[in-house]
Amino acid sequence: MCGIVGYIGEKNATPIILNGLKKLEYRGYDSAGLAVLTNGHIEVRRDAGKLKNLEQLIMEMPVSGKMGIGHTRWATHGEPTARNAHPHLSSSGEVVVVHNGIVENFIELKEELLADGLKFQSDTDTETIVLLVEKYLKGVNDLETAVRKTLERLKGAHGIVVFSAKEPDKIIAARIGNAGGVVIGLGEGENYIASDIPAILEHTRKLIFLESRQMAIVTKEKIEVSTIEGKPLAPQISSVAWDPISAEKGEYRHFMQKEIHEQVRSLTDTLAGRVDFEEGRIRLPQLNLTAEQANDIQKIILTACGTASYAGMVGRILIERIARIPAMLEIASEFRYSDPIVDEKTTVLAISQSGETADTLAAMEEARKKGAKLWSIVNAIGSQAMRIADGYISMQTGPEIGVASTKAFTAPLVDLYMLAILLADLRGTITPEYRKQLVDDLRLVPELAGRCLDRESEVEETARLLKDTRDMLFLGRGINMPIAFEGALKLKEISYIHAEAYAAGEMKHGPIALIDKDMPVLAIAIKDPWYEKMISQIEQAKARGGIVVAVATEGDERVASLVDRVLWVPEVPWMLSPVITVIPLQILAYHIASLRGLDIDQPRNLAKSVTVE
Ligand code: AGP
Repeated sequence: MCGIVGYIGEKNATPIILNGLKKLEYRGYDSAGLAVLTNGHIEVRRDAGKLKNLEQLIMEMPVSGKMGIGHTRWATHGEPTARNAHPHLSSSGEVVVVHNGIVENFIELKEELLADGLKFQSDTDTETIVLLVEKYLKGVNDLETAVRKTLERLKGAHGIVVFSAKEPDKIIAARIGNAGGVVIGLGEGENYIASDIPAILEHTRKLIFLESRQMAIVTKEKIEVSTIEGKPLAPQISSVAWDPISAEKGEYRHFMQKEIHEQVRSLTDTLAGRVDFEEGRIRLPQLNLTAEQANDIQKIILTACGTASYAGMVGRILIERIARIPAMLEIASEFRYSDPIVDEKTTVLAISQSGETADTLAAMEEARKKGAKLWSIVNAIGSQAMRIADGYISMQTGPEIGVASTKAFTAPLVDLYMLAILLADLRGTITPEYRKQLVDDLRLVPELAGRCLDRESEVEETARLLKDTRDMLFLGRGINMPIAFEGALKLKEISYIHAEAYAAGEMKHGPIALIDKDMPVLAIAIKDPWYEKMISQIEQAKARGGIVVAVATEGDERVASLVDRVLWVPEVPWMLSPVITVIPLQILAYHIASLRGLDIDQPRNLAKSVTVE
């Protein structure tokens, strides 16, 4: 969950690393630090808290050099203090390391190193790595061998970058398991290392992604990739097309606000090249799906975490309704502990913005072990979830920086709808007329999303009404039930208001006891097949004195007359409605958090991609 940047070349590494860390701060903001090689020795600057503290420190104590590494931390072992901030130096000051992951055998290694007489200067598990390198260097005297020996000793998943003052021509990067990515960026007479592409995108589009148990020796002239055991590998160079501008905030106050507004474009992009409106057909070439394979599928298990899992809940409904294939959603963090019934007739579909979420990758690995076919819907190009799948759908939304996921929620809803149509088409279970109608409906989506965005100021007024509430209930039914969950999650994670979501029909079985004047209810009551039932639910809440805010279809006077406030959305075919109904909920959470003066893009305790289990 931490961010890593490295540079080797002829330029000053400090601003390159600081800039890269800025792009990665969403990955962790407990502390930040960098180490550069200056006149033959390693200089470290690090501080607790956000990157601006490190920038201030560097202004007071400038440091420069032609190679260096930097880190932004999401604390696991050891408090978020300056002493525990990365990079960590060996006791001699000769070697320095930054690390993403957890050394699972840290206690055992620490005892061994203490017994060898080595001293720890932090409470982190990472320090065992640099002290092990130091220990092995005494025997072998070359960094590469010492790093290989160290990597062999570590349990758990890791991304590690290390260099030594005695070998000033190289930085070594390694990846073990799924603690986040390690990507090498190729330049001219210079090279870059990062945990995530946005950190180095302004410098290069040519990238090498390390797989698990691979290591790269990076000099300014070349990159050598090998297995940790030392077998040389021919690295595959990929090119990425992401626009670096989309990783900037632009005129918006927060990335979240910008990303909410980007949805017209991101929804247009996710349709681009995949929808043939003439023929009424869907094309998803990266899924590598044939009619024979489609006919072979007996069950689809969707798996994901957090917001992505709510997209999966919607996807489950779409796949069953449109493709008539049995589908279920299993939360990724539970998947591998549930002894899932999975075989070669099962397809497991993982959904992940980052493509690096440890729980989701673990679920994919479990599915693979059991013989399932693996698909993924992923945003981060080149991420692990994209690479290990048999086929994938790319979200095509560009980088999402705000910790609260928005555009990477609506894009997969559309991807899942398209997937359901494609499956039905390949299995011959849909009439051409119905297929054409479903495909035609997609045409409306970006424009309808835009109409929701035009109503931002109305939603902001409702935010003023709700900003001081302590609790809130979100209710939905059918395909909009997952949107109630997503609306509640958005509110919780950025405004710290306690919010709970229920399938509205469940209220009468217990939670209705919570409703009084201090418990506002948000009900999604658009003109969909569950409309009448939602009206009853609203009436029940009103009868108990609750303040009710409804998401309703434009012009619906019946709902308007029942509730305290309405968040209007345009009329939309019900199977695509989640893409639209979620937008006012994203805006509402954003403005409530903004009115409460909170740190919207970097909410407390969270990180953008969760690479620990
Ligand atoms: C969303 O707002 C969250 N911050 C979080 O739930 C997120 O969706 C989840 O951690 C999954 O991430 P992924 O899509 O990168 O796998």
